[in-house]
Amino acid sequence: MKIIDSVNTYREMRKEFEVKKIGFVPTMGALHIGHAALIERSVAECDVTVLSIYLNPTQFDNIADLEKYPATVEADLELAKNLGIEIVLMPDYEQMYPDGFRYQVEETQFSHRLCGAHRTGHFTGVLTVVMKLLNIVRPQRAYFGEKDFQQYKLIESMADAFFLDVEIVACQTVREEDGLAFSSRNLNLDNSERKLAPRLYEALVADVPDEDVCSRLTDSGFDVDYIETYDGRRFGAAKLGKVRLIDNVSIAEVSQ
Ligand code: PAJ
Repeated sequence: MKIIDSVNTYREMRKEFEVKKIGFVPTMGALHIGHAALIERSVAECDVTVLSIYLNPTQFDNIADLEKYPATVEADLELAKNLGIEIVLMPDYEQMYPDGFRYQVEETQFSHRLCGAHRTGHFTGVLTVVMKLLNIVRPQRAYFGEKDFQQYKLIESMADAFFLDVEIVACQTVREEDGLAFSSRNLNLDNSERKLAPRLYEALVADVPDEDVCSRLTDSGFDVDYIETYDGRRFGAAKLGKVRLIDNVSIAEVSQ
């Protein structure tokens, strides 16, 4: 497994892969079983899989959130190696933003709804860094989790809008046994918050109106950003203490 921190080094190496199918899994590190599912799928479907670990500051609207974002680099690299990753790209800010973020990719509609309405500039940071990463890595396929469904949809339509020659692949949300979606931020939950956290998923799949989902969560001690049904899915974001959790389910999953 090669660990590369320079964009130019990767680009030189990329020339050797010209005829192979390259799969790409972009991440911000603190890898967990949800990330592993994306990696496994790419390794199974592609000849070479590139993993990027880059904690992208431009998508954080809150400096405290960025500062306490978990970093587990050694364990991440161990996991990547065990799962059969060939290349790990770990650039720094100077490598990723030679322009100092002067150039930005902005979507003007869906990115302002749901999470976008609560995290100003978040999706512009996401789309910009993903555009850069796709242009550097030049994969045939790139894998994204439905855990961040709004992000996945925005990236898919960005790829269409800019005629990017890449297939955007969605992977189902991977959950703990109690229903909590795996997330790097779960590491920041204390014991009592961790016990409450599965209630977000429980509430989202309950067959009651969005307003009732919201009040159930508020009653359990969550500080709810939004609960909204949009285009056949129910989306939710809520804070437990200082940790912001997001999740979403298809309306077909809404049962009891
Ligand atoms: P990160 O939160 O590290 O997530 C990397 C990828 O893993 C995303 O596509 C995300 O949807 C997926 N993922 C996270 N938890 C998952 C789960 N429980 N089940 C399935 N997939 C899951 O999302 C980002 O990083 C960044 O915004 C990024 C796209 C890398 C741009 O900086």
